[in-house]
Amino acid sequence: MKITVVGTGYVGLVTGVTLAEIGHYVNCVDIDNNKIDMLKRGLSPIYEKDMDYYLKKNKDRLNFTTDYSVYNDCEILFIGVGTPENEDGSANLSYVKRVCEDIVKYGSKDLIVVIKSTVPIGTNDEIDSYFKSTGLRSKIYVVSNPEFLSQGTAINDVFNSKRIIIGSNDDYAIQKMKKLYEPFIESGIPFLVMDRKSSEMVKYASNSFLATKISFINEISNLCEVLGADVNSVALGMGYDDRIGNKFLKPGIGYGGSCFPKDTKALVDLANKNNYNLEIVSSTISVNEKQKRKCFDILKGLINDLNNKDIAILGVTFKPGTDDLRDSPSLKNIDLLLDESANVRVYDPVGLENLKKMYGDTIKYFNSISETIKNCEAVLIMTEWDEIKYYNYSCYKKLMSNPIVIDGRNCYNKKEMKDNGIDYYCIGG
Ligand SMILES: NC(=O)c1ccc[n+]([C@@H]2O[C@H](COP(=O)([O-])OP(=O)(O)OC[C@H]3O[C@@H](n4cnc5c(N)ncnc54)[C@H](O)[C@@H]3O)[C@@H](O)[C@H]2O)c1
Repeated sequence: MKITVVGTGYVGLVTGVTLAEIGHYVNCVDIDNNKIDMLKRGLSPIYEKDMDYYLKKNKDRLNFTTDYSVYNDCEILFIGVGTPENEDGSANLSYVKRVCEDIVKYGSKDLIVVIKSTVPIGTNDEIDSYFKSTGLRSKIYVVSNPEFLSQGTAINDVFNSKRIIIGSNDDYAIQKMKKLYEPFIESGIPFLVMDRKSSEMVKYASNSFLATKISFINEISNLCEVLGADVNSVALGMGYDDRIGNKFLKPGIGYGGSCFPKDTKALVDLANKNNYNLEIVSSTISVNEKQKRKCFDILKGLINDLNNKDIAILGVTFKPGTDDLRDSPSLKNIDLLLDESANVRVYDPVGLENLKKMYGDTIKYFNSISETIKNCEAVLIMTEWDEIKYYNYSCYKKLMSNPIVIDGRNCYNKKEMKDNGIDYYCIGG
């Protein structure tokens, strides 16, 4: 089939290359000339495992462009643009709306418009009403098809999706979506059809549930610290129960990224607007906000005056495997340290270029852990990159005069660290 995907970010680009891989011809459109220029040269604008390989392999089925006339050159058009957070926590739908307006402006044929962006419950119906209100002669079918990939493993996640959710009550559109995803369905991926509002809710409820699991174990970890239990053992013991499962049950400094923070807030906002108090998700958000500053608070308890002290931050991305810094807990810690006039020194294997755009020369950037921590007063670990997990920890002792390591991701064995003379603090005792 001939497909157009609008937005070449983490979701749009992965959607484009995976659809090309199963044999479709895909126009990938973005408003950002730099991204399209890079893609035309075969370079990925995002850091994502296997992306370069699939871009190269499918180059004859992929067309990268900023030209909206391709909206006429497809049977199905995916909207995969961002829906970031507004100041009041609601989802910003302006990018999605702009694409819909462009479809009306540039498109003249019948089209299935698939909303892959995460949009609040009722948005697909509103988009449908919008298209109907424009008096277009062509027919537009609006289908909800939320995305569940995880950055860092995104391509593999799509090929091994746990489910494909389709929100539509139109038989023609449902059959077309089935045809589009046929190779995935034949490989055994469940294809679930429901109404559009329920499909939208599956996405918000799934993200809110996973975020709640993280905040839950973080609260338990705080209580473990008070009571003298070891949360890593507790999580291990809980995770063996398959009603609970061991995923998203790792104590740390809270969730970040482009989805959980904004989607939990957008769901609470939506509930409030409908006079419903979504208590569990609201608590998830407030627990997470407190957890993000956990390492900083431990540091303040050890060194009250941080003025002009050299502090190392290891890892800045919101998780390993991505260059994405959106809502990363590390940013909160960097800000708190800068507020106290500390000298912030940062290492990350892939996130530094994006970090430089945000902090310029207010902090120092390093390409190795050893250079970063040299003569520092303390180290804060914010992301569990392998480079950090498998770093020779005896170097903390060698390179710092009084080695304090505050590990927000429980990368090391507490006993080994202490036995090696490192003043080591982790999450949950
Ligand atoms: N990132 C994830 O892990 C993930 C997972 C599932 C769902 N989602 C959802 O998918 C959506 C996209 O997320 P993302 O992380 O890929 O965002 P992103 O910011 O990485 O990418 C969005 C892209 O859309 C482009 N764009 C904006 N307006 C445009 C327009 N009018 N025409 C063409 N291109 C335009 C931007 O330039 C950008 O390249 C969001 O709703 C998000 O919540 C994200």
